[in-house]
Amino acid sequence: MPVPFFDIRYNLGPAEKQALLRRWAAVLDHGRFINGPEVGELEQRLARFLGIEHVVACSNGSDALVLALRAAGVGPGDEVIVPAFSFFATAGAVARLGAVPVFADIDPETFCLDPAAAAVRAGDLTRAVLPVHLYGRPAPVGEIRRAVEAACGREVAVVEDAAQAVGAASPEGPCGGLGLAAGFSCFPTKNLGACGDAGFVTTRSGEIAARLRRLREHGGGRRYHHDEVGYNFRHDTLQAAALLERLDHLLEYNAARIEAAADYGRRFAAAGLAGPIRWPEVVPGHVFHQYVIRAERRDDLVEHLRRAGVGCAVYYPVPLHLQPCFAGLGGRAGRLPESERAASQVLALPIHPGLGPEDRAEVVAAIEAFYS
Ligand SMILES: Cc1ncc(COP(=O)(O)O)c(C=O)c1O
Repeated sequence: MPVPFFDIRYNLGPAEKQALLRRWAAVLDHGRFINGPEVGELEQRLARFLGIEHVVACSNGSDALVLALRAAGVGPGDEVIVPAFSFFATAGAVARLGAVPVFADIDPETFCLDPAAAAVRAGDLTRAVLPVHLYGRPAPVGEIRRAVEAACGREVAVVEDAAQAVGAASPEGPCGGLGLAAGFSCFPTKNLGACGDAGFVTTRSGEIAARLRRLREHGGGRRYHHDEVGYNFRHDTLQAAALLERLDHLLEYNAARIEAAADYGRRFAAAGLAGPIRWPEVVPGHVFHQYVIRAERRDDLVEHLRRAGVGCAVYYPVPLHLQPCFAGLGGRAGRLPESERAASQVLALPIHPGLGPEDRAEVVAAIEAFYS
């Protein structure tokens, strides 16, 4: 039986669809399609859910990062240390502000920014560091901050890329509440997915939250009065209504992902696959937005799985320092070996909450067949 990589309809059964349509009908009735009452309700409920004081809903996760960085004071000419292994938007957000992404290597165990590697890239122009909670695994934000600040000899703003980490937490606290501000994505396949583009920023500071709200609406505190030049990064009320519905189920969705991850690990161990593949540890607080293994002969395995009807994806095949648009920043193959190795070995397997044990058995059997 084929196992799709992701089935966007897993949470759109008849009951869920009806609940969603009821919420959307209410929006059609009041007609406030942008920043409507559901947006405020979503912000409050998310803040409670995450345990972070302020949530500012916006257009998408990429714009959320631009807002968070800008509110942290990042501007033209500043340097921001980012992991070289992440989704493009991590570095794209820095470049969109006229700042320079400075690429640092990752910890091969966690796929997250390595504190020592980040410290090596710190310098006089370092304005901020942007750890990514990649695949939903909390990055060691405190350790990264301490290493970078020790190298700079001064305070440095920490902005989190929590796009993949809604509900994730480290022993230091909830992801999104560990720095000055954080950007989250509600892209439809995310753990808290909208029915289109959506995102939000979190912060513990009331002052930063107020600035984020202004920046979200062209930099104006009052309509048609602009203190600074901001953006149109407003939140769509229909998406807020969809997210309110999904938020009711987020704990259950995240628990299903964690259970699926633990089950995969047991099955891989039982199949004796510890040589050719390495699978992720189920550490507390990881919400498994993606379940990513390292695989020998990864590209051949991808072909084999596709022929066997098992969905999979490579996140991400090209590290950021080797992207053509950043060629001017001096990145060359061999400079950041862990990021480059990860790009050649990683493979994401199906993990969405609708995935059953029989699906996981199919995935593991297909991988076992390839290596035997
Ligand atoms: C790590 C990371 N950062 C940023 C983003 C950007 O989010 P969006 O697609 O909502 O703009 C994503 C989305 O895939 C992501 O995975």
